[in-house]
Amino acid sequence: MKNNLQAVILAAGKSTRFNTENSKLLEKICGQPMVLFPTKLLEKLGIDTTLVVGYQNEMIEKVVSQHHKNVTFVHQKKQLGTGHAVACTKDVWEKEHILILNGDMPLVTTETIKNFFKEHIKQKAAISIVGAYVEEDDHAYGRIIEQGKSIKIVEAKDFEKKPTVDIWPINAGIYLVKTEFLRNCIDQIDKKNKAKEFYITSLIEIAFKKNLKIATLYADFEEIRGVNTLEELAQVEEIKRYETIRNWMKKGVRFNTTHNAYIDIDVHIGAGTTIEPGVHILSGSNIEKHCKIRKSSTIENSVIEDNVEILQGSIVRNSHIGKHAKVGPFAHIHTESAIGDETVVGNFVEIKKSKVAKNTCVKHLSYLGNATIGSKVNIGAGTITCNYDGFTKHETIIKDNAFIGSNNTLVAPLKIEQHAFTAAGSTITEDVGKNSLAIARARQITKQDYVQKLLEKLQYRSISEHAPEKKCRVKKIKKQKEKELG
Ligand code: UD1
Ligand code: CA
Repeated sequence: MKNNLQAVILAAGKSTRFNTENSKLLEKICGQPMVLFPTKLLEKLGIDTTLVVGYQNEMIEKVVSQHHKNVTFVHQKKQLGTGHAVACTKDVWEKEHILILNGDMPLVTTETIKNFFKEHIKQKAAISIVGAYVEEDDHAYGRIIEQGKSIKIVEAKDFEKKPTVDIWPINAGIYLVKTEFLRNCIDQIDKKNKAKEFYITSLIEIAFKKNLKIATLYADFEEIRGVNTLEELAQVEEIKRYETIRNWMKKGVRFNTTHNAYIDIDVHIGAGTTIEPGVHILSGSNIEKHCKIRKSSTIENSVIEDNVEILQGSIVRNSHIGKHAKVGPFAHIHTESAIGDETVVGNFVEIKKSKVAKNTCVKHLSYLGNATIGSKVNIGAGTITCNYDGFTKHETIIKDNAFIGSNNTLVAPLKIEQHAFTAAGSTITEDVGKNSLAIARARQITKQDYVQKLLEKLQYRSISEHAPEKKCRVKKIKKQKEKELG
């Protein structure tokens, strides 16, 4: 298959029916741009691939090049139709057979391509097509019309009368052609249709008229669905998402729901892990065994080691969480942060670009930015690092076994040594040595029985400000009171 077959993917179209002004091929399905579905499929099969690009070609080429070294690009300057797109690749045709794939059908499997090639070879066909039967009447696909011995593909918009759809199968948009046939006939494709485009599908009628062998393979419609609209994109993504979840369930991952969990295709989830509703596990994430990812949490491009619990509403991005750690609810860990084994990061805590070693507690309402925290450290509730002075980010270092009291303001750059202790409510601006206690807050003054006096003072001030004419009377009362109090 590898030796006598090469592939062409059509990805130059304008995606007009998307109405987004962007090429649909860049749109992500379960975290992966649509164009990478056919390129990865062909890579798996070891088939040399040429991608026809045009609309937003630079962005498409960039995405594809990041994942494939061997895909070649051919530029279709004007989008004159699928037949024209194929014609643009003439210079790269060298193998005996060419597989042509629409770029917008992300659910096709390697099995279908393998079977299709087998059939094409077995039947010694000049051109082979894949068809599928649909029940609904609202599909805009081309129809494979077989009447007597004749066969052709007619686009929905070119039908004189609306076809009775349960009779004719649709054309999937996957073709196998003998290169020799393609070379001889590609220039015979004309634009005699409503769209005034060169249709690749015209090759079927051309082959029939030349009395050449045409083979047809039938596939499941679910697998060959095309994506022309945002509605179809959502349908295809839902199918892909369910397929991914089903795959993880087989491998021992527990999902409380299958329709409200969002798992990208390039993630790993270990056996015994539970995924609750509303969870997003996004590209590049590796979740190990026996973790619990609670409701509405998001994990992106992060490693979560064994037995971690991520509580409700937490976000972990580009970070690493060690074994048996507990995060959340409503915690936000991001920008290359690392949380050590058995460490607890509690509710409303943000940790940015920081390393927290094992067995440490940051339990409530804290912000740690550009910090390196040792093990067995306690970070009191409401503590924040002041890591940014408007120009530069500064580092905070807190060594093992330090105790940071509640509501501390740690002004970086700052170093707090082992076993140091800072008093609650402190604003720490200077380094604190090993075993030292730092208290950095105003001393408390208590004035006994002062409350009555205070109230009168306040009352007098309020009256003088808002009703100056009553001032004299108030002065009198005040003097009297003072006498009484001695
Ligand atoms: C095409 C088929 C239709 C089939 C359907 C299956 C034709 C004429 N029709 O219709 O029979 O049922 O696919 O999904 O082929 N493209 C280019 N250059 C162009 C035009 C399109 O590269 O000038 C690319 C698009 O980016 C897309 C693919 O070709 O990836 C198919 O084009 P699209 O416009 O989606 O064709 P359909 O109308 O879906
Ligand atoms: Ca299409």
